[in-house]
Amino acid sequence: MGAAAFAPSALGEEVPKAIDTLPPDAPQRRLSLVADEIEVPLLGADKPPTSRFCAYNGKPFLTLRAPQGTRLMVEFENKLPDPTTVHWHGIRGPYIFDGVAPITQPIVPAGGRFFYNVPLPDPGFYFFHPHCDETGQVGRGLVGLLFVENPREAQVRFDVEHIIAVKDWRLDDAGRWLKMFTDEGASTAGTFGTVRAVNGSPVAPRAEAPAYGDVRVRTIIADATRVIDFGCDTDDAAVIAVDGQAIKPFLLSEAPDDIWRMGPAMRLDVHVRMPGPGQEVRIYDYRTAEPYLLTTLVAVDKGRKKTPFKPKALPTPTELPLPDIAKATHLDFLVQTAAGATAIAPALPPDDPLAKALIDSLCVGDKTFWALNRNSWGAGTDLRLPPPLNVLKDGESYILTITNVSKHVHPMHLHGHVFKVLSSSKKKKLPQFLADTVLVEPNESVDIAFKATSGNWVFHCHILEHMDSGLMGWFRVA
Ligand code: C2O
Ligand code: CU
Repeated sequence: MGAAAFAPSALGEEVPKAIDTLPPDAPQRRLSLVADEIEVPLLGADKPPTSRFCAYNGKPFLTLRAPQGTRLMVEFENKLPDPTTVHWHGIRGPYIFDGVAPITQPIVPAGGRFFYNVPLPDPGFYFFHPHCDETGQVGRGLVGLLFVENPREAQVRFDVEHIIAVKDWRLDDAGRWLKMFTDEGASTAGTFGTVRAVNGSPVAPRAEAPAYGDVRVRTIIADATRVIDFGCDTDDAAVIAVDGQAIKPFLLSEAPDDIWRMGPAMRLDVHVRMPGPGQEVRIYDYRTAEPYLLTTLVAVDKGRKKTPFKPKALPTPTELPLPDIAKATHLDFLVQTAAGATAIAPALPPDDPLAKALIDSLCVGDKTFWALNRNSWGAGTDLRLPPPLNVLKDGESYILTITNVSKHVHPMHLHGHVFKVLSSSKKKKLPQFLADTVLVEPNESVDIAFKATSGNWVFHCHILEHMDSGLMGWFRVA
């Protein structure tokens, strides 16, 4: 079924325009993308392999690269035994290809196909994943990485690029999947994996780089639950991009506690200067009592000379629509535990096409533990689609104050937009930066600002059990 045939009309309002973010004659790249189950030796070659691993094109962490300004024409086929969709996390494109059943498209049933038109207007580090039973499908590996390359940014200036995909596995000793969603986890910090892993493997990668050379370390939390404190054992390391968007470089050693905290879906680019021949740089997650090794970089002699470390600044984006802070409308959101089955705003009437689509989508969770401004996404037998959080105006600027009154951290993600993180009530020294997902700690308020683009866009926590148990709402921008 084509996406254009799907035109939800909640509350009888006008259907938002699907805004294209590239000219019609932009260069196109065809891509056939197949979601399927494969067998992978996740516990190591000497242990039983894991079956029913979910992958795109048969490859764990399928990694795509394309130049900025390209349009991906994606022929997607679902060979999983369950319904799914593909969401292009962080990409600004037409909402009808955003992959959210039921508000932007119907589900892709087992054996079904869907066409995604994915413009890539902004350089950066993105990823794609299902938006239906996310806890279960992402839990079993269904994640792909997408690097959009900036022609103005000479990649050659780095000697080595090293990717760290943080994703744990929930397995028993025989390599069989454990339940991904637990009530205990979903109602607290989320259910953790039993096997920690980087790039799929329980053994941290070792990568070589020229002594005194420059490494671009690109980290993503692809896990459903884990929050890390990214840090390393050298002072010659600087943050250069957050969620793929360039930031004015700052030394990690000058950040509070020498770390950058990252929750599910968040990405970080760090420039590491290698030490002398034979020496190593170790990159850790310092959040756990015992620091967890994410990667070792080994310096090999290539005849380079030592020079002073100067972090490389990436070009600032030129195409991004930035918010007009002075004219912005202010909106407040409370992230909280659910008050019970009752939500304060009336749900969409059951005969509304969107409410019907929700029931047919099979993409709802079983339980409700979380709410945004006392409204929860439909779950269990309470199959109601909440009305939009707000109806926003295309092209207008908004400031959202997100206040976390719960005991757990929440990485909040807004679809279809890159927003500016303006300030935090707790981290006073935080620089302003662009992102698509922002971590909100307990008792913290974070202000973000964006210029709204026409569409139906969800806003949710990226701890997947939280989103699957109520912590999701949506904006209609028309
Ligand atoms: Cu990675 Cu709804 O998003
Ligand atoms: Cu959350």
